[in-house]
Amino acid sequence: MRNYLRLYIISALFFLAATLIFGLLASWAFLYPETYNKFLPFYQLRPFHVSAALFWIISGATAGVLFYKNGELVPGKANPITEKLFIYTWLATIVVIFACYALKKFGGREYWEFPPVLSMPLLVSWLFLIASYFIPIVKSTRDKPMYIWMWGTGIFFFMITFIEQNLWQIPWFRYSYLREVTVQWKANGSLVGSWNQMIYGTSLYLMVKISGNENIARGKTVFMFYMLGLTNLMFNWGHHIYNVPTASWIRDTSYVISMTEWIFLLKMIHDFRSTLEDIKRLKHLITYRFIIASEVWVFFNLLLTLAMSIPAINRYTHGTHITVAHSMGATIGINTMILLGSFSYMLGIDKMSESFRKNIITNYWICQASLVVFWGCLIVAGFLKGYRSVTLNIKTFQEVMMPVMPVLKAFSWAAIPMAISLIIISGMYIYRAGTMKAEIE
Ligand code: HEM
Repeated sequence: MRNYLRLYIISALFFLAATLIFGLLASWAFLYPETYNKFLPFYQLRPFHVSAALFWIISGATAGVLFYKNGELVPGKANPITEKLFIYTWLATIVVIFACYALKKFGGREYWEFPPVLSMPLLVSWLFLIASYFIPIVKSTRDKPMYIWMWGTGIFFFMITFIEQNLWQIPWFRYSYLREVTVQWKANGSLVGSWNQMIYGTSLYLMVKISGNENIARGKTVFMFYMLGLTNLMFNWGHHIYNVPTASWIRDTSYVISMTEWIFLLKMIHDFRSTLEDIKRLKHLITYRFIIASEVWVFFNLLLTLAMSIPAINRYTHGTHITVAHSMGATIGINTMILLGSFSYMLGIDKMSESFRKNIITNYWICQASLVVFWGCLIVAGFLKGYRSVTLNIKTFQEVMMPVMPVLKAFSWAAIPMAISLIIISGMYIYRAGTMKAEIE
């Protein structure tokens, strides 16, 4: 593996560790503001946590795309210049973003709360990524499997939605609060769709490589999956704008669309699992386990979103911790699991010593068990909050939150083993990336 890619993989894993540490601190800061407000208040920890999460997911996804595409599209030597330019400008900007958060310099919008001028270097670095991905695609005469299309779609649409996400910087969008919020959340919804394209593409790639069956990435089923992902990317934002007045059919249609994509992903992983021979599964056991974990979490999240879309339940879930359960359930359970599977494949974790692998598997199980409690607590907390404020019509925040606080404490306790296990896995991956033989560039 090339040195700059190793650096990128290691940085992405550090972002995951930072997400976990800031997430833990944020949850305790929410419970005990009087203690935390003196040094690290919740309002400062939240952007640290959420931005680190986004940078983990986007960097993790693009690290895989860069690594895999070189084998697929450019069998010989790929030109590393644009790849390096992308990685170095991307990472340098992220360091500046965290420095701004540390100095309490904000100014952006939800999920991207850094001073808006920093969107520019992020965009420029993305253009380098676009060049390094699409130039070999155009040159390559090979027949392209679906994951190549999915990665390309994700990369291209990320650029469009990132620009859209920044439209609020043009005064016309800010003149109307409603206009600004609508564009903001629409863009955030599509942004999720674009990284999903990259991550689901990676999951498809891994299924092909583990099973040795190229047909998984070709044919009608996978084409349907791609088209659904694309439709999702373009239209699933409807359910992200529930806080602005919209026709209910827009929200309902997008709910249905987002669920169909998950059902297809579930079907594809299920088919892969049921046809995989034992010998191939055992050869890539850790990567396989992470893909299966994502299948289970797709299923749980599907149940949650189905429930959330029922109007009688939706009355209670609006703006409660159930929404947070939905976003963290998907970003941890689905995105992070696929990415950890992808990293273990890139780093050849399945070739490591038995004790090394056993350690990862033990932490994998600790993570899954604590994630169930973590996620379940958020749902219970959200439901209690919704029930007390909507049905019991309790008006004061303190009174509404009285029975909710113990559940949030349980959430924060469950987060500790989850964070420790994921940090240990990341640390072991970092160790592996740092010690593996470098390729001569
Ligand atoms: C130790 C584990 C974690 C803890 C304790 C934690 C805690 C939190 C807290 C307190 C919030 C703010 C909720 C609010 O504003 O009401 C949050 C939001 C969020 N977290 Fe985590 N988190 C953890 C791990 C992660 C991980 C690993 C990811 C993704 C890889 C993640 C992604 C997010 C996202 C995307 C949000 C924004 C949710 C929204 O706005 O709906 N979290 N988290």
